[in-house]
Amino acid sequence: MAMIFAKPSMRTRVSFETGFYLLGGHALYLGPDDIQMGKREETRDVARVLSRYNDIIMARVFAHQDILDLAKYATVPVINGLTDFNHPCQIMADALTIIEHVGQLEGTKVVYVGDGNNIVHSWLALASVVPFHFVCACPRGFEPDARTAKRAIKAGVSKIEITNDPKEAVKGADVVYSDVWASMGQKEEAEYRRKVFQGFQVDEELMKLAGPKAYFMHCLPAERGIEVTDGVIEAPNSIVFPQAENRMHAQNAIMLHALGL
Ligand code: CP
Ligand code: NVA
Repeated sequence: MAMIFAKPSMRTRVSFETGFYLLGGHALYLGPDDIQMGKREETRDVARVLSRYNDIIMARVFAHQDILDLAKYATVPVINGLTDFNHPCQIMADALTIIEHVGQLEGTKVVYVGDGNNIVHSWLALASVVPFHFVCACPRGFEPDARTAKRAIKAGVSKIEITNDPKEAVKGADVVYSDVWASMGQKEEAEYRRKVFQGFQVDEELMKLAGPKAYFMHCLPAERGIEVTDGVIEAPNSIVFPQAENRMHAQNAIMLHALGL
């Protein structure tokens, strides 16, 4: 497997590399300075060359179009390891974690608090196929992509709400979910975002409003003291580490499926 990384990673890189080894494969890490896809060489050429050495390609890129181009020109399966638009492998692991801890995903209330980013777009995709209650509480102007949200709502599978009121949103949640306020590629906006996102930190008070059954989840890496307090991430109902572990198990299943095994 060729693993293309245009951005940094711990979980995605280690879980794919270790997972593929456990399945009997061998994974190659191609970092930002290695093949320089789109800079040293066109994406469509990378796709066709890598397809001749590898049975599968996994890529983490900036522009979503890059993963679409890879998939279009590759002759082997291409797995999305995060783009600026979405992060499907993360949400598959999250679904597995909810099934393990809550018992089932169907009917659960998942409340995402923070930026309407790539993680939210993948939650919306999941909500288009599995019935649950998904709420995204984000500051005004940081809502998820309108077309993506509209499509998920129109699918009519899940109850989907986009709101600017985190306190109201978390009531009765089975899961309160958080992610960084400034994603990879947005770090120069971090200071500005910290001001705009005041009131969207997942702290002990917000978890209390959610109620005693609420688990805390975060895709990690977390900025403790920014989008989540240290206390919330270390609390007994925080399941961020089983969630991180499940990246590997979910992705192993995805790889076997993609390879037709
Ligand atoms: N959650 C996640 O994708 O982590 P990494 O950026 O470390 O891969
Ligand atoms: N939204 C974050 C997720 C990291 C796993 C980012 O894109 O940086």
